[in-house]
Amino acid sequence: MKYGVLGTGVVAQIIATKLIELGHEVMMGSRTANNENAVQWAEKHGERAKCGNFAEAAAFGERVFNLVKGIHSLEALKAAGAENLKGKILIDQTNPYIYKNGHISLDSKFTGDTCLGEENQKLLPDTKVVKTLNYIGANMMTSQEGLKEPVTGFYCGNDAEAKEVVKGILQDFGWKDTFDLGDISMSRYTEMFGSFWVPLYNQLGSMEWGFKLVRNEK
Ligand SMILES: NC(=O)c1ccc[n+]([C@@H]2O[C@H](COP(=O)([O-])OP(=O)(O)OC[C@H]3O[C@@H](n4cnc5c(N)ncnc54)[C@H](OP(=O)(O)O)[C@@H]3O)[C@@H](O)[C@H]2O)c1
Repeated sequence: MKYGVLGTGVVAQIIATKLIELGHEVMMGSRTANNENAVQWAEKHGERAKCGNFAEAAAFGERVFNLVKGIHSLEALKAAGAENLKGKILIDQTNPYIYKNGHISLDSKFTGDTCLGEENQKLLPDTKVVKTLNYIGANMMTSQEGLKEPVTGFYCGNDAEAKEVVKGILQDFGWKDTFDLGDISMSRYTEMFGSFWVPLYNQLGSMEWGFKLVRNEK
């Protein structure tokens, strides 16, 4: 399978590398085709690893990950191009966070009656946006071996088939416990929830943890 990965930061590096390990072809996309992080990543990961700009990565991927800085997600997706993402699944892990004085707040453009996941979906009505893994540290996204028990992989989106595909991707990434939250508006909650990661990280002094939903099956 061909994947486009929009972004070159720590999350993009971890997701893109895991996709290569799973045998996929990956193009990492950036604002510029010669982004240093992306070029170095592609050189390190062999012939199935490529890099380009956002539009090239979106066009390349049969499925695409959105892993850019959340407050700039709409700009990045516009640069990626609606036509290049049409009919595809967009796995969206972005958060609209503003960091100030040791605290996180949500960018006010993405609060109240909306959120970033919903705005990403509104921008791309012909793309199936599925929000997931935006509330956990990057190092836990594809590797949970160090944890005592499985933590929960939440996801939400409007398209049932796309969500099943994303559930399968999470399982390929090693997630043993997954949970469908509902439609894309549920990312309002996972985007707020994600901000809780920072105080817990500060108190635990470690990134080796996650959230588990303890429940009785219906
Ligand atoms: N770090 C974590 O542990 C973690 C955990 C959960 C969720 N997340 C979310 O995952 C996403 C990626 O996080 P990250 O820490 O890996 O990277 P990041 O530093 O938040 O984002 C880096 C990416 O954002 C792009 N970007 C920055 N400014 C831009 C602009 N003005 N227009 C278009 N694109 C722009 C950069 O493009 P260039 O490549 O062109 O520089 C780069 O690819 C974020 O939304 C974050 O909230 C992060």
